[in-house]
Amino acid sequence: MGMKDRYGNGLSTDQPAARDHYDRGVALFLGGNFGASDAFAEAVAVDPDFALGHAALARALMMEARMADAKAALARATELAGRGTERERQHIAALGLLLAGKPDEARKAVLEHVQTYPRDALVAQLCTNVFGLIGFSGEVGREAELLAYTSALLPQYGEDWWMMSMHALSLCETGQIDASMRLMEKALALNPRNANGSHFKAHAQYEAGDTQGGRAYLETWLAEYDNRSVLHGHLSWHCALWALHAGDEEAMWQAVDSGVAPGAAKGLPINVLTDTAAILYRAELAGIAVEPRRWSVLSDYAAQNFPETGQSFADIHAALAHAMAGEGARLAKIAETAKGFAGDLVRPVARAWGAIAREDWAGALADLSQTMARTERLGGSRAQRDLLELTYVNVLLKLGQIDEARRSLTTRRPVLAEAPPVAAFP
Ligand SMILES: [Fe+2]
Repeated sequence: MGMKDRYGNGLSTDQPAARDHYDRGVALFLGGNFGASDAFAEAVAVDPDFALGHAALARALMMEARMADAKAALARATELAGRGTERERQHIAALGLLLAGKPDEARKAVLEHVQTYPRDALVAQLCTNVFGLIGFSGEVGREAELLAYTSALLPQYGEDWWMMSMHALSLCETGQIDASMRLMEKALALNPRNANGSHFKAHAQYEAGDTQGGRAYLETWLAEYDNRSVLHGHLSWHCALWALHAGDEEAMWQAVDSGVAPGAAKGLPINVLTDTAAILYRAELAGIAVEPRRWSVLSDYAAQNFPETGQSFADIHAALAHAMAGEGARLAKIAETAKGFAGDLVRPVARAWGAIAREDWAGALADLSQTMARTERLGGSRAQRDLLELTYVNVLLKLGQIDEARRSLTTRRPVLAEAPPVAAFP
């Protein structure tokens, strides 16, 4: 006892080497860098009774999509929890709720935990970021809630690159682009290899319409990033998207085939599915021919990795892949029975993809119109939800509603209005 982690929390291990491996793992994990699970495994090899070492190992394994190993590590942490402090017990319990597939209860547990232990970063982390427990709450106000959450935590963290990057992300997603960029530069000066920093710096550049500057920055940054790291595939998607906006089709396919698509990407299935579906359809909207085989491969990938609905953000992208691949039965299952945090919105979106695949533009408009006022409930960043914005605009154009299409972009996504990446614009 008496040992503290890098955020000043007491740790129930008396082995300095275990603490050092743990701290190294925490920094790797919070920075989205490869090697966190190895570091935590080393921590528990030094001290097999180190409860939070096992809990952190479980969390890192989850981010590598190794769910069975994660559950085993968490079971060991839970066995050991009784010997630890209240903070450690609650920390492990919150993770347990997440791993048990109880996101609403996990979110409540995290919000309560950080009231008392704001600097318990691995717990606080669960509610941060676009793909966190607030991001995927399915609530209308979840972007504002995320901002409130990181606003409250930021002063507790002092000069900490991770929390700065998380708050900068919240600022970006609520339209405060300049403030986001300033804070992110500060965070990146403290740790230039924080992938959560480079990621949302790229988002701020996207929101500012800085295609050229963003591309140059991110491609250079990505070249030094281990391709086994959690954000490699998604950052490759950002590069592919900018290449598309810049009219560089060759670079777009190169990024897709080296980092985004099934087989190429080493990241989480949710990123592989959503990023691949989004870039393929955004390429089609921009007038680029997409080989049908790409959609078939993606539809198979979606069916394999997301056999049941529930993850609404994944579900709308799975439905898109199934529609474009002509997999009617797979599509119908989502369109008719989608469950999950925004299942009620997934169904009309899935029907719209089906209508679009049949070129039934009026049918697509009827279904999309139901969802456009509440797309944040589906999850994902603003840049990701531009898939829906651009699809909606394209449907309007197909119906000859050119003024309405322009108005939609100018009012909803002005950053895309000047040079819309939609070939159907006259
Ligand atoms: Fe992103």
